Amino acid sequence: MPIPRSSYLPFGRPSFTDDEIRAVTRVIESGWVGTGPETLKFETELAEYLGARRCVTVSSCTAALFLSLLVEGVTAGDEVVVPSLTWCSTANAALYLGATPVLCDIDPATLCTTTDSVLDRVTARTRAVIVVHYGGRAVDVAELRSNLPERVAIIEDAAHAMGASYPDGSLVGSSSNLTCFSFYANKNISTGEGGAVALPDNDKAERIRSLGLHGLSSTAWDRYTDPTALLRTTEIVELGYKMNYTDLQAAIGRVQLRRLGEMSAIRERIANRYIERLDPSRTGIIFQDGCSERSHARHLLVIRVQKNKYAMNRDELLLSLRSLNIGAAIHYKPLHQEPLYSQYSAANGLPNTDLVADEILTLPISASMDLEDVEYVTAQICDLLRLEPVVDDLEVDQPVDPS
Ligand SMILES: Cc1ncc(COP(=O)(O)O)c(C=O)c1O
Repeated sequence: MPIPRSSYLPFGRPSFTDDEIRAVTRVIESGWVGTGPETLKFETELAEYLGARRCVTVSSCTAALFLSLLVEGVTAGDEVVVPSLTWCSTANAALYLGATPVLCDIDPATLCTTTDSVLDRVTARTRAVIVVHYGGRAVDVAELRSNLPERVAIIEDAAHAMGASYPDGSLVGSSSNLTCFSFYANKNISTGEGGAVALPDNDKAERIRSLGLHGLSSTAWDRYTDPTALLRTTEIVELGYKMNYTDLQAAIGRVQLRRLGEMSAIRERIANRYIERLDPSRTGIIFQDGCSERSHARHLLVIRVQKNKYAMNRDELLLSLRSLNIGAAIHYKPLHQEPLYSQYSAANGLPNTDLVADEILTLPISASMDLEDVEYVTAQICDLLRLEPVVDDLEVDQPVDPS
């Protein structure tokens, strides 16, 4: 009988150090913990890193997607094309505005939309497309842009894709589209919760900031630092929301951004070790097609356990791994299989999404894991699926120091 791990290994876990703790302490001691100077510094540093003109932080990627559609002019009656294989936030953003999400298919190798799978769903009512850089694998948005009518906006759901790059090598977030990031607990940069929109347009950036804070024309920090702002300019310009980010979060985000290179390198090593140990040419296990090295942020490590091929199917494998304290997961049950979204699937269906839906399995990956964790997980998978383990010429490294 295999021995379960003594501690649970989640599919994703943040990596924090004393530097994040010191940064939060500094902000607490400053007396200003809401949206303020730390938030502005984080936005500037993030924009610089991404090569974006502007970054505006908000309370979540869900909020970022909603506000992006809003400033792109999406309104009731419009159609928004989104993949079915995504988290509900992507499509919910359209529903919040009274628009209709139109679910599209993916390429079974990349698990991402293709230009053709999007175009297949574009109609005269299409106002926007949200592409999802699923798992951290960048979609070719330049190719999509050159094939889409001009009236159709592209929004990028980059919740998984901090640090990923497009086929031309530039970072996801540096394109001309509104690109939405998540800083949720398990994301590549985590601040517990939070999100940001990277974009090239100053006016849209200011509108997103205002809409995220009641539709006000100034922030509390503006009014605190400049009393004339209080007398002169504090106006409620339009109906806004309460979706702002805080300096406590930004303090963590600034440190996480500085550590991103080192954390991404750990993710890359972990992913490579999975591929070596579950060598697709020997096991037949299909890994998400990662394309060239820099283009994948390695947020999710997704494999496909093909039906009728192994001693166990995907669901049995997931349950067995869980009983060993390995936090395997599923990203995602496709939206068209959910009660809320079943009505948004087109008549010609989503054959590739249906094909992979019962096969995809997310294995643990994070910057707080080490290679010993991968050795354990892959050994258990080989055992459970009755695969010949790949143990030969690989050095068993020392654990990666995540600090
Ligand atoms: C693809 C995708 N889009 C959007 C989101 C929403 O992110 P948040 O939790 O920051 O709202 C998630 C969250 O995991 C996600 O996976």
